[in-house]
Amino acid sequence: MEGYRWKAAVITLSDKGYAGKREDRSGPLICEMIKEAGYDVEEMILLPDEKEEIKKCLCTLCDRRKVDIILTTGGTGFAPRDCTPEATMEAAERNAPGIAEAMRLASLKVTPRAMLSRGVSVIRGKTLIINLPGSPKAVRENLEAVLPVLDHGLAILTGRDGECAR
Ligand code: MTE
Repeated sequence: MEGYRWKAAVITLSDKGYAGKREDRSGPLICEMIKEAGYDVEEMILLPDEKEEIKKCLCTLCDRRKVDIILTTGGTGFAPRDCTPEATMEAAERNAPGIAEAMRLASLKVTPRAMLSRGVSVIRGKTLIINLPGSPKAVRENLEAVLPVLDHGLAILTGRDGECAR
């Protein structure tokens, strides 16, 4: 949407990051990429891989802070503590699978390991929530694949653009 800056929140999910044992490079990378695309980053949050905590944080950002979009990074894989998709699905009101599908499709051209991300994309109220994998490389590859299309989706979701241009 020309002239409008989407309100975004970025959440990094990482036990090691939360414990200060690993520097979070993925959250800052998301911020950099979306700021360049014209978004305002209202919140940057670091949480451990705890489902209830993640769900609560997502719901607060949607219902109270009313951000337009939440991008998460990490916790989408097969490790026993990875629970970002589950927390996101519990917060979800509607599914928006095409975004996650497009990210995996693009990522599979880079690495077959892309199939190991269980990330989902959903809607709660007027907020779009997208899960990205944890590494900075994966963040860049996944986000680049969908970022150009998000503006149109957000415009329709938030009612700023009622018509889908054909
Ligand atoms: N997608 C892209 N584009 N590039 C990558 O390097 N790494 C994969 C996958 N998706 C990767 C990717 C790997 S190795 C894993 S295990 C999963 O994302 C899950 O990552 P996460 O557990 O850090 O969320």
